[in-house]
Amino acid sequence: MDYVTANGATIPAIGLGTWELRGRTCTRTVEQALRAGYRLIDTAEIYENEREVGDGIRASGVKRAEVFLTTKIWPDHLAPRELERATKASLARLRMSEVDLLLIHWPNPRVALAETIEALCKMKRAGFARHIGVSNFTVALLEEAVKVASEPLVVDQVEWHARLDQSKVVAACRRHGMAVVAYSPMARGAVLSDDLVKEIAAAHERSPAQVSLRFVLQEGGIVIPRTARLDRLTENLGIFDFALTDAEMAAMRGLARPNGRIVDPGIAPKWD
Ligand SMILES: NC(=O)c1ccc[n+]([C@@H]2O[C@H](COP(=O)([O-])OP(=O)(O)OC[C@H]3O[C@@H](n4cnc5c(N)ncnc54)[C@H](OP(=O)(O)O)[C@@H]3O)[C@@H](O)[C@H]2O)c1
Repeated sequence: MDYVTANGATIPAIGLGTWELRGRTCTRTVEQALRAGYRLIDTAEIYENEREVGDGIRASGVKRAEVFLTTKIWPDHLAPRELERATKASLARLRMSEVDLLLIHWPNPRVALAETIEALCKMKRAGFARHIGVSNFTVALLEEAVKVASEPLVVDQVEWHARLDQSKVVAACRRHGMAVVAYSPMARGAVLSDDLVKEIAAAHERSPAQVSLRFVLQEGGIVIPRTARLDRLTENLGIFDFALTDAEMAAMRGLARPNGRIVDPGIAPKWD
């Protein structure tokens, strides 16, 4: 397992995304992922699976201290009191005393960002989160958040895969010593059928999924692919023993397109 360091945090370079994993499938997948070697699990209060994620971690037998657990606060809960209540509710569902990373899931223009960020910093100082960060923040929002934060922000979690050029937000994160966590790192499967990705995969005797994940990893991102299949858990983990050439990386960058974004709900900010 490779790790990425960011503002004092040491974060596994690959994790299991758990959006849409529910009930026993979720518990079983988290347990199997940890047994297979994953050390980062990504959940959120909105995924309605924190209870099962907590159960899966305990069932795995992997020590809590070895697991890097992320959860996220939904934008309806960004006023300071609500944020504290939501954090405690997540911990209660997880049956954990702290998470490793607590994120603002999406920005909310109706709540002053300075208040939200200060409340988030307080959650860290109270011992509910070892590290804090944001998700779906644009460059402008990130700059504002960093300016008002009294504790280091360690990541911005954003959609990132070969079809979506995220160089602006990635550069902003780097300037502030933050890591970028790439969600939907396979564009929910859309990158996998691309002829170029298939060609590069064949050249390395790897799968298109491994090439897609390796591309983001090699660009410096932390990837959190989701799967409910044991064979794919192992497949997606197999990205640390091969490397794409400079020419292949350049060709993959060429897959970016203006309409490459797939996660763009009504609550989204005006993207960079
Ligand atoms: N912060 C945010 O706003 C936000 C937004 C979206 C997602 N996320 C996080 O990011 C995680 C990942 O993103 P995502 O779930 O949107 O998309 P993703 O990981 O890019 O794609 C998941 C899809 O790919 C399939 N898949 C996985 N491994 C595969 C493989 N080796 N070969 C072929 N297909 C494969 C899965 O199906 P099977 O299950 O059948 O394998 C699933 O349908 C989420 O689960 C969540 O934790 C965060």
